[in-house]
Amino acid sequence: MLKLAERMGRAKASAIMVVAEKARKLKAEGRDIISFSIGVPNFLPGEHVYAAARESLAKDSGSYGSNRGSEALLDAFLKHLRDGGLEGYERANVVAGVGAKHVLFNVMYALLDEGDELLIPTPYWTSYADIADILGARSTLLYCGPEQNYKLTPQQLRDALKSKPKALLFNNPSNPTGMVYDHAEVRALADVLVESETWIISDDIYNRMIFDGLGYAHLVKARPELRDRCILLDSISKTYGMPGWRVGMAAAPAAVAQALVNLNSNHITNLPEVVTAAAVAAFNGPQDVPEQKNREFQHKRDQVMAALAQIPGVRCPKPAGAFYVFPDVSCAFGKSHAGKRIGNDVDFCNALLEAKGVACVPGSAFGEPRAIRISYTCPTAQLPDGLKRIQDFFGELA
Ligand SMILES: Cc1ncc(COP(=O)(O)O)c(C=O)c1O
Repeated sequence: MLKLAERMGRAKASAIMVVAEKARKLKAEGRDIISFSIGVPNFLPGEHVYAAARESLAKDSGSYGSNRGSEALLDAFLKHLRDGGLEGYERANVVAGVGAKHVLFNVMYALLDEGDELLIPTPYWTSYADIADILGARSTLLYCGPEQNYKLTPQQLRDALKSKPKALLFNNPSNPTGMVYDHAEVRALADVLVESETWIISDDIYNRMIFDGLGYAHLVKARPELRDRCILLDSISKTYGMPGWRVGMAAAPAAVAQALVNLNSNHITNLPEVVTAAAVAAFNGPQDVPEQKNREFQHKRDQVMAALAQIPGVRCPKPAGAFYVFPDVSCAFGKSHAGKRIGNDVDFCNALLEAKGVACVPGSAFGEPRAIRISYTCPTAQLPDGLKRIQDFFGELA
């Protein structure tokens, strides 16, 4: 076999998908599996989205489209930004891609040369470090454990900025922890960032999934002078229940947006027309489905937290957004279940899946090996059973 490019030696499959795959296999074998593993929202968008897609299909132009995204999509996203309190962006600042993951890849490709330092508050969404690895950038993980509610502190950020990193990745609300930085916390971090010269990649894809009336705080809202070096990522995947439609968006300084357009022109060319029409309808249409789902997720968050609170030794900061809970389960390490020793988070998830048919993702996939990620978007009726199985599992540890 001839050699692949060296960088492919650094490319790996997402650790989250590995667990999901194992759960799928067991299910296919007839096992009763409850999946808390993959981050799919598990609901469908409103009928108006399908109507827009059908109408677009009927009118199909059969042509190529804009590398940046159609004007209708750019305008719909600009409205979405304004509805979220982010004013002052224009078409030249925004660009579409094949999901936020693709846009993120392009943003990192556009900003990071080999050897450049990227700050990643940890726990982090797996792809941040994986993409940095492919690009040969250096990830500096800023560890934010459960004792600090999985949140980056201004002092940590101030210290980390001393090495003059090229970029910071900031994810609010967070996957995997579900934690949300409130207005004061975002303001305190923004105050530190204005003193630096680092790019900021702000992954905001869960910005419509915030509970407890906390509201959507943003670095650029807190300190508008950061706009010139902040790239904001958004997506229709989670908010509108449309992960498979693959539409992600960026809002950025015009030169960065243009760089992303240039990258699009060299691989995807454009988003498909039907997909674009569906995304426009999602952004512009009634917001009742996402709003109702958000209320439902908040209720499910409460159910998960109540169940975890009854397990002695499990520590879990209370999330205020997205649809994840990230408990520290290290109290189980060193114990055994049905004769199987649990040495770490991977053993824990394997034993839980095998014994109880509950699939969770080991925290080490996100840089926190003491925890596991529970994604609670399963059908509402399944949730109590899945949680009971986790409680039983803990109760059977010896
Ligand atoms: C934090 C975060 N950013 C980005 C993405 C990618 O989203 P998309 O489906 O738009 O590619 C995900 C998906 O799980 C995510 O959790």
